[in-house]
Amino acid sequence: MNWQPFEVPTLGQGWYGTPAVDVLNARGDHVVDLRVTGHRILPGKKGLPGLPCVYTEEAGEAWSLEVDLADSLTGLGVTMQYSVFEKTGAVARSMRVTNAGQEPLTLRGAFPASVPIWGSDYDVLHLKGAWARERTLVRTPLGQGRYEIGSQRGASGHEENPFIALCGKETCENSGEVWGISFVYSGSFLAGASTDNAGNARLYMGLNPQVFSWHLEPGESFQTPETVLVHSSQGLNGMSRIYHELYRTRLARGAWRDRPRPVLINNWEGTYFDFDEDKLFQIAREGKELGIELFVMDDGWFGQRNSDNCSLGDWKANPDKLPRGLSGLSERIHGLGMLFGIWMEPEMISPDSDLYRAHPDWCLHVEGRERTEERNQLILDLSRKEVRVFITEAVSSVLRESRADYLKWDMNRNMTEYFSPALPPERRMETQHRYMLGLYEVMDEITRSFPQVLFESCSGGGGRFDPGLLYYMPQAWTSDNTDAVSRLWIQYGTSLVYPPSAMGAHVSAVPNHQCHRTTTMKMRGDVALCGGGFGFELDVTSLTEEEKQQARSVIARAKELRSLVHQGTFYRLLSPQGARYAAWQFLRENEALLCVYRILSEPSLPPLRVRMTGLDPDAVYRDETGKLYSGAVLMYMGFSVGISGDFGSCVMRFEKV
Ligand code: DGJ
Repeated sequence: MNWQPFEVPTLGQGWYGTPAVDVLNARGDHVVDLRVTGHRILPGKKGLPGLPCVYTEEAGEAWSLEVDLADSLTGLGVTMQYSVFEKTGAVARSMRVTNAGQEPLTLRGAFPASVPIWGSDYDVLHLKGAWARERTLVRTPLGQGRYEIGSQRGASGHEENPFIALCGKETCENSGEVWGISFVYSGSFLAGASTDNAGNARLYMGLNPQVFSWHLEPGESFQTPETVLVHSSQGLNGMSRIYHELYRTRLARGAWRDRPRPVLINNWEGTYFDFDEDKLFQIAREGKELGIELFVMDDGWFGQRNSDNCSLGDWKANPDKLPRGLSGLSERIHGLGMLFGIWMEPEMISPDSDLYRAHPDWCLHVEGRERTEERNQLILDLSRKEVRVFITEAVSSVLRESRADYLKWDMNRNMTEYFSPALPPERRMETQHRYMLGLYEVMDEITRSFPQVLFESCSGGGGRFDPGLLYYMPQAWTSDNTDAVSRLWIQYGTSLVYPPSAMGAHVSAVPNHQCHRTTTMKMRGDVALCGGGFGFELDVTSLTEEEKQQARSVIARAKELRSLVHQGTFYRLLSPQGARYAAWQFLRENEALLCVYRILSEPSLPPLRVRMTGLDPDAVYRDETGKLYSGAVLMYMGFSVGISGDFGSCVMRFEKV
């Protein structure tokens, strides 16, 4: 039985792998025998109540299938929900678990995707990382066992992204088969690839059973978050193209979804906590002169916050730094003809805060145990209604008072003691998921109430860069590591699943604050302009005249290219793996943008030729120096790139003539 290609494997009747549904019944066993009882085929795709999900806009974009299954002995019901997108073949897949019996049930495992794949001679792909080193592509043989990744952190996390894939041994960027699963969820998850004793593979993705269970009284049901399955026989780029298009146009929402984003300047690395209104105004004024359009005030503007040890939750401007309040600064910035943006970390509470002194029970905790602090802070319990009301009101009043055009929503620690004392004991293991549902409710309400605001999510850099949050906020801070070379790895890996339009990418000072490396302004600019959320993050008032001139040209270049970066089809060309070069390309109708980066130079090597992709081989293309090439030459012989020295770059636009 264990080798059967079950669609919804369960335990107790001959299946010994990871079950798609694991339910403990009132008799104390977890045998589940699901039989099909009905099905429906429906046009389009339904939303998932309270959860982020991909959507359709026009009739015919997708078709949906719902299959009902039931276990007659316990009354357990499972409805499998599939939606197939016509153009790309991407499949959104989730499930609803219902207790139609007379006794309570406990859902202990819920894997909306569990997919048998013929054969097992595959590689596993996933995105591994750490703080400042997010989403490095890992490719490793599947072997004859089980390969699992996941998070128990209460966030998707820096360490693993909610994505896993299998690909053929010969699969490369542009050819070969790949099967990917991505989870539209921002909390703890478990994903795996396994082989059975008949030599076939299975991919699965779902809620992490270590930190999840759900109590179902008779009549209650549970909706899982959604997974998105993509198959491509056109290599890893083929898979990424499908995810990019779906996530850019049918997951992200709102007024900013299709609009190229304003060039911003954020004061974090420029000042950290040490600023006042005048200092910020000077940075903004100088930034405006360089061509920057949006000024963002980062952490440190509220309560008594001069370091990271207090005041989270006290969302009132510090009068010592901002004597005329949020509105005073915002008016001055708007007066420059710039947009104004602000930072908040709404899910957090500092033990040293007025909020904590008033509501010490509002954080996640276990009564009688120490409350583990990280970065001197605790996490608000978003499973509680009164906490959600507080956060919604706090964020809304900051946005109203500051008339902000942009909000950076940060989250800087993972969960410990992840239980809500407000829940009865049999429901405490629900806390992590209830927290995520609470977060989604709050984000939905705020983003709908302020439709013109551009929201960027952030989590100690890219610790929650996932499809769940992209539904609410169309861009995310990719990493706290702003070094141009590190960013090649990070943006390359991130692009496996996520479109460049979603990536926040900034030019920062040198030596870089995270890596201490010095790269040219041009290289830093050429890397950052490939992110849809392009900006600067340094004290521009301290730049020399020469540096200001360089900054002006980087900014002008980013503006010139931003709509192509936002809407163009992205192709990875050369992986930074060998530490010598990296290259990628954007393509839209009659234009292409080739981006090549030289990491370390070496003597006695011929000039690099980078082969472009997706062009019309019979057409003629003109580069920015006026030279003409046939598409066939650019694709099959390649464009010759002359970059000398370490840390060089070449960003070249081609137009079809
Ligand atoms: C972590 C973020 O990633 C940084 O950009 C910055 O906003 C800090 N938090 C502020 O505390």
